[in-house]
Amino acid sequence: FTIKANEVKAPVAPHMWGIFFEDINLSADGGIYAELVKNRSFEFNTPLMGWSIPKETAANGNVLVVNRHDTHPSNPRFARITVTGTRSFDMVNEGFRGMGIKAGEQYNFSVYARQQGSTPVKIRIALLDESGKEIGNAVVSPQGSEWQLYKASFTASATVAKAKLQVAFSGPGILDADMISLFPQHTWKERSNGLRADLVQLLVDLHPGFLRFPGGCIVEGKELTNRYQWKKTVGDVNDRELIINRWNTEFAHRATPDYYQSFGLGFFEYFQLAEDIGASPLPILNCGMACQYNSGEVVAVNELQPYIQDALDLVEFANGDTHTKWGALRAKMGHPEPFHLKMLGVGNEQWGPQYVERYTIFAKAIKDKYPDIKLVNSLGPSPDGDKFEFLNDTLRRLNADILDEHYYSSPGWFLSNAGRYDHYDRKGPKIFAGEYAAHTKDNGANKNSWQAALAEAAFMTGLERNTDVVVMASYAPLLAHVDGWQWAPDLIWFDNLRSYGTPNYYVQKLYANHKGSEVVSMLKGNQVITGQDSVYASAVLDKATGELVVKMVNAAATPVPVEVAVQGVKGLAASSRLITLQSNDLQALNSLDAPTHIAPTEKTIDTRRKTIKTTMAPWSFYVIRTKI
Ligand code: AHR
Repeated sequence: FTIKANEVKAPVAPHMWGIFFEDINLSADGGIYAELVKNRSFEFNTPLMGWSIPKETAANGNVLVVNRHDTHPSNPRFARITVTGTRSFDMVNEGFRGMGIKAGEQYNFSVYARQQGSTPVKIRIALLDESGKEIGNAVVSPQGSEWQLYKASFTASATVAKAKLQVAFSGPGILDADMISLFPQHTWKERSNGLRADLVQLLVDLHPGFLRFPGGCIVEGKELTNRYQWKKTVGDVNDRELIINRWNTEFAHRATPDYYQSFGLGFFEYFQLAEDIGASPLPILNCGMACQYNSGEVVAVNELQPYIQDALDLVEFANGDTHTKWGALRAKMGHPEPFHLKMLGVGNEQWGPQYVERYTIFAKAIKDKYPDIKLVNSLGPSPDGDKFEFLNDTLRRLNADILDEHYYSSPGWFLSNAGRYDHYDRKGPKIFAGEYAAHTKDNGANKNSWQAALAEAAFMTGLERNTDVVVMASYAPLLAHVDGWQWAPDLIWFDNLRSYGTPNYYVQKLYANHKGSEVVSMLKGNQVITGQDSVYASAVLDKATGELVVKMVNAAATPVPVEVAVQGVKGLAASSRLITLQSNDLQALNSLDAPTHIAPTEKTIDTRRKTIKTTMAPWSFYVIRTKI
């Protein structure tokens, strides 16, 4: 192999390797959003889902869910608890597959409450372990007939993966209660209404260049009434209108009939998360079309204006002056500085002339007002087929900015498509590999095998070789709860207490952490290296550190000797870093109990003769960093 280090082919976009967040697999509620109470505001379709009334105290009172929709359309329901005797009436919240509680940590309880009638009702909360034993408690004493927020904190005495929250009301009396909430004190950056710190840390460690949000199919909704509407996800958390999650299903591998979107993690929090992890925000908006797999419902073209207005107002929310309506809301929520939004997605996985018709109207309105915003366009669900070809041709003719290609396919597809972009049209729109993952046929719960990760690593050499046309890429989906998922494989798995990165996560991490700044040519003879002798390869310069970074994949079951002559440099450092991701078992997985079974290891290799000489282990991914 030869690297011509003085032949720069293209810059690597600073946001090249990013992440794609969708609220699927309990990623938001029950996942990264640290709220522990499920159905805290009684807005699920079944108003008491997640709550139970233990029979021991059931005779001491009752609960009625009151609906005041006409006056409070965004948070219509609350619970009216009547305590009849002197003993308590209890309600128990099960959490999202239980509540993960850690010994020694502080938990913050809060509730909106008001007294009905003349006698106050006291609330005692207790966390219960799996056997029903108390592991922490607190008391609040609401008084007065106006809604007020009451808070109490306590420290848990034990670590429990599936705790429950007992809420005991003692009277006699009548109390109205809403937004019954429990958060750990320790969230990411210790924010109230915050995010799970371990999960955010895994994202930080990836060094993602962008954050695509909020989906995925949830942008579209199964039907338009349940599409994602960003304006309903900002402002006071109490006023964010809950909807059923598009991934709510009885038929998932782990059924999720209790899957809703509380929007406690809403658009403000997504922008803040992007900023925290150093990623450019990339929101995807509904373009007047529901999920075409489900309903094919579209909004009439002459009624598209509210959807377009949402897009225009989003730019103002993210970037606008604090004197503008939406910029002022951003400031009120605690972020007067702009979020520096530069890209916007119009529709997710839409297709057909209906999409083109709507996209064209969107694009004109957004570009007229915000000519510098780059638009990301859907290219449908898969690169194989008529839908893709039609959109690809049409959007290229319309001079679209960035086309969003999705590929979920076999490891073999990823290997044989590693050269996909080597001969792509350079003059047209840029490419965003917006969702991809190698899917194997095994029936295991977690399909993130080393075989899949290795195929993705090989494919990504082709993305990296062609950063003049491919400007962004993100694996999908990002997160999955082991007890409540609808889709696998996923990049990061978690339960209520623990989380881990899959082998695929480490592939993404190695690319993003060793992104470099410019692609240089790496050839075998005069050909790019896309599977000859089962090796896939690419090379970049890292101007900031003065290093050459070489990525190579050996997709074979046998060792492969490689020799890379580096031309166009004065010399190489005598020894260089070799980071390896490898397993002799293609079916190997990481897990909660063995989170780093497959993880990078590092050693040094001799590179003093302007040559990188090594024997690649079977089924391995190598990253070599050498000073030049
Ligand atoms: O990533 C899971 C789903 O795959 C996304 O919601 C959708 O865009 C794609 O079909």
